[in-house]
Order: sequence, then C-alpha cells, then structure tokens
Amino acid sequence: MDPVNPPRVLATHTPALFRAAVVEAASQLRAGEIVAVPTETVYGLAADARNPVAVAKIYAAKGRPVHNPVIVHVADGDLARACVASWPVTAERLARAFWPGPLTLVLPKAADIPELVTAGGPTVGVRWPRHPFMQALITECGFPLAAPSANAANQLSPTTAGHVQRSLGASVPLIVDAGPCAVGLESTVVDLTVEPPRILRPGMVTAAALHAVLGALSTDHLAEAAGPRRSPGQLPRHYAPRARLLVHRWTDSADLLAWLNARHLTAATTHVLAHTHLPSPEGWAGVSLVPCDPEAFARALYAELHRVDVLGVDTIVVEAVPEEAAWAAIADRLRRAAAGAG
Ligand code: TXA
Ligand code: MG
Repeated sequence: MDPVNPPRVLATHTPALFRAAVVEAASQLRAGEIVAVPTETVYGLAADARNPVAVAKIYAAKGRPVHNPVIVHVADGDLARACVASWPVTAERLARAFWPGPLTLVLPKAADIPELVTAGGPTVGVRWPRHPFMQALITECGFPLAAPSANAANQLSPTTAGHVQRSLGASVPLIVDAGPCAVGLESTVVDLTVEPPRILRPGMVTAAALHAVLGALSTDHLAEAAGPRRSPGQLPRHYAPRARLLVHRWTDSADLLAWLNARHLTAATTHVLAHTHLPSPEGWAGVSLVPCDPEAFARALYAELHRVDVLGVDTIVVEAVPEEAAWAAIADRLRRAAAGAG
C-alpha cells in the first residue's frame, strides 16, 4: 500500500453513515471513478458499466487481463433486462428463485454494454446482489455497475474492507466498509446461452438448487481441460494465497505430521486449517478451527487464508472437505488455490 496516498474508507454502520456513503460512492461512480464496494459474496471493484473509460480503470487497478469479462450488477429486473439482448424463460425462473443473491446469469449482451465489460465477447454476466449497500448504491446511480472481485489479479478475493486495502492499496481511491461478507465465496456463474444451461463457476447456489428450478443442467465445469475456456475464472490456479496451499485428509496429529514429513515440509512453518480433526497445537506455526457446516465454512475461509497469509507461513494445509453437493463450491476454490502447489 502507498502510505502517502491511502484509500479513503467510508463506514456504513449507522443509517446516516450508510446514506452518506451511498451518496459519495454514487457521485464518484457518476464521475467515472472506481469504488470498492461490499456485496454479500465478496467485495467488488465497481465502475459505471456503460462507461468504457471507467471500466478500463478496473482492469488497470487489478492488473486484470482484458480477456477476462466482468460481471454487471443490477438492482431490479428491468435493469437486468436492459443489460441483455434476450431474456429467456430460464433467466426468468432463476431470477425469481435466486435474485437478489449470489447467482450470475450469462446471457447475450445488449448493444450498449461496452466490449471491455464482456472482454469482446457476445455475452454478459448479470447479477442482482442481495447486499443492502449494493442495492442502495445501484438504485441511487440508476445505471448498472461492472464489478469484479476487488483484489489484484490472481490473488484471493476480499471479504473485508481491510483485505481490499491490502490487495489493491492506493490503486483504489475509495473503499466502502460494511464489515465481513455474509456468503464469503464468489457467486455461482451459469451460462444460459447454451442448451442445457451450464455452470461455469460453482458457488453457494448449488447445482442441486439450480437443477430443481431448471431441470436440465450441465455441470461439466470440472472438465475444463477438455474444451475451450468459457470462463477465465476456470483457470486451474486462481483464488490463491501467497503461501503454498495443500489439501489433505488426516486421522490425527501423528498421521498429519507423518504425511508432512514425507513431503519434506516442516510443521514449524506450516499452518493447519481444520474443521473436524483439529491437531494438537504444539509444533505448528498455527492451527485454526473453521466451522464444519458449509455456509459458515465458506464465510470463514478467505478471511482465514488472508489472516494466515499475512503471518507469512510457507505452507497452509487445509483439511479436505466432504465430497457432498453442499461443499462443491468450497472444494472447487480449494482445488484451484492448491493447483500448482507441490
Ligand atoms: O460474487 C461475485 O461474482 C463477485 C461479486 C463482486 O459480485 N464478482 C466476481 O467477479 O467474482 P470476478 O470478475 O472476480 O469473477 C467473475 C467470473 C470470472 O470467472 C469471469 O470470467 C466470469 O465470471 N464471467 C464474467 N462475465 C462472463 C461472461 N460473459 N461469460 C462467461 N464468464 C463470465
Ligand atoms: Mg475474482
């Protein structure tokens, strides 16, 4: 972070502060500036989605490659439909079931959505977030907000204003602080331009929930090596902390230590994140217990990885999560965070 020029941080914990932050953020966005904002999934880095000069500032601040499209956020059905060229019945059903919420629908883009938002592609990702600040902000602006997660490209998504500040520093002039995000993992992304609809990125709106609403649904997002890359979020290594992250299932402390030693890793520079088999704390750089239900685990995961990363350990070992549908998005993020780790 640039100590000379730190970002301004706006609090929102009283109605007056909330309202003042809405007005100030909207005024910056109207002027073509970028603002880091809370959503229920992760913090986003927002700009006026109709203004390519403003959207270019997002890419610059994140160091994001321009071939990765940005999600457009709306706060009502009319604004959602204004962003797209067609609104199929599948979109209507999913919007009714899951909006506002952590679900992004990929649809043919409207003509006035700039190419930079969609990375030159014919489709746009649209989401109506549940977070009250985002809803108030979009309503105040009257235009849709393009917003990727508010982190430097390929780093962990932020779930607090402090994470944003640490990742983007002075490249973001204004951060709205609404405390920790309630969901904690990025939204589920569903492509509705293919038949059957296809999950591009799993999230806490699960495949089972989508299936219950849609009927037919393709979940072959895991077969990413097989076909052309549809969503750059599918890059194997993504959402990664600085430390090497390993995922493993163990029975007790001795079992975990033996596994670690076999890999020539040292407990003293390793942090353990467990949700059921908590090892005894002696000898480790640190041990943390994360909750063992999937919603609470998702809420805690990135915050815990950010916290441990700041401590500067070499390795983070995360206890493998259950192979169940409710854990699929968490397993996906852990797999990506671990990709490339030895
Ligand atoms: O929960 C979220 O989705 C958060 C908050 C801020 O809304 N946003 C977020 O944005 O995670 P980002 O840019 O970090 O990830 C968006 C993902 C990327 O994998 C991107 O490639 C994909 O959505 N995506 C966006 N538009 C797309 C499109 N038109 N077609 C296919 N994939 C798209
Ligand atoms: Mg991201």
